[in-house]
Amino acid sequence: MRALICDDYAGIDALRVGDLPEPTQGPGQVLVEVASVAVNYADTLMVSGRYQTRPETPFAPGYELSGAVLAGADGLEPGDRVCGFTWHGGMAERAAVPVTQTALLHDRIDFDTGAVLPSTYGTSYHALVDRAGLQAGETLLVLGAAGGVGLAAVQIGKTLGATVLAAVSTDEKQRLVESSGADHVIRYDRVGLRDGIAEATNDAGVDVVFDPVGGDMTESALRSTRWNGRLLVIGFASGPIPAIPLNLPLLKGTSIVGVFWGRFTSEEPERARVNLDHILELTEKGTLRPTISGRYGLDEGTKALRLVADRQSLGRVVINP
Ligand SMILES: NC(=O)c1ccc[n+]([C@@H]2O[C@H](COP(=O)([O-])OP(=O)(O)OC[C@H]3O[C@@H](n4cnc5c(N)ncnc54)[C@H](OP(=O)(O)O)[C@@H]3O)[C@@H](O)[C@H]2O)c1
Repeated sequence: MRALICDDYAGIDALRVGDLPEPTQGPGQVLVEVASVAVNYADTLMVSGRYQTRPETPFAPGYELSGAVLAGADGLEPGDRVCGFTWHGGMAERAAVPVTQTALLHDRIDFDTGAVLPSTYGTSYHALVDRAGLQAGETLLVLGAAGGVGLAAVQIGKTLGATVLAAVSTDEKQRLVESSGADHVIRYDRVGLRDGIAEATNDAGVDVVFDPVGGDMTESALRSTRWNGRLLVIGFASGPIPAIPLNLPLLKGTSIVGVFWGRFTSEEPERARVNLDHILELTEKGTLRPTISGRYGLDEGTKALRLVADRQSLGRVVINP
């Protein structure tokens, strides 16, 4: 079958389209004809050998997908429209997906939208609901707010009744977060993050920080939290993993909270399933509206991953194998 193939962890530009053996359906798996697979920042790390997991080569990247079941299990039948998560193998015509990580797609959710729900929306939901306990009336700061998990956090934050400050770096990204309901936009390419937060909150600071960016932004955001604040450690898209002076959480009464959605789904599968069901419901109602800003064929897969690695993508781009 055709796939986007990583042969040797030499990065995005070394990926090629070629043939991989057909996936076989193992116990507890469904076989899916992939209609759409999301391009995540983590895919760009994985093909460069810079992610936590290193699959045996050659492999296809891509972990969040949708499509039609070819061979079912546990009540899923051939022809069912599903979305699901598997650690890699999605950027291919067919993929084997654990049935525990697969959910039926509601009729009104198209395949491209479905492809970004399990992990992108799953991560932001888990972070804000399970890890931060974000409450209505609280103030949420989202860094990298026009990116995949960032935009999902803006929308979920609004659904939970928070006031949302969205930090972004370009005019296009600003327009996107405004149209997704952000209450305030901080252009951290132009103003210092702390000044932007102070201005948007009348010096009060924020209750929760959603941080997929890392680097210098993390400490600045932490310094702008209120009493009982929570800093959600999501990722380090800017590169450097920050080292935080521990007097800051002490003085501010702020918690630094780790988030690892992939591990959460294996440690707490039932809770992860409840979350995904709720995300599907909110998406079907139109309360959550994922932005799919680009659709590419397998042949253009490298271009799609390059957009994400180069900070150019809006919301999510997807590949349609
Ligand atoms: N912990 C978990 O369970 C979990 C789950 C999913 C993702 N993640 C992590 O979350 C991070 C974001 O993932 P994503 O797939 O949503 O990424 P994405 O769509 O590429 O968004 C990342 C955002 O980060 C900002 N950014 C700042 N500096 C950047 C740089 N040098 N290069 C690229 N982006 C930069 C960009 O916004 P501006 O240009 O506006 O700054 C960009 O929109 C990644 O580190 C990923 O590994 C973690």
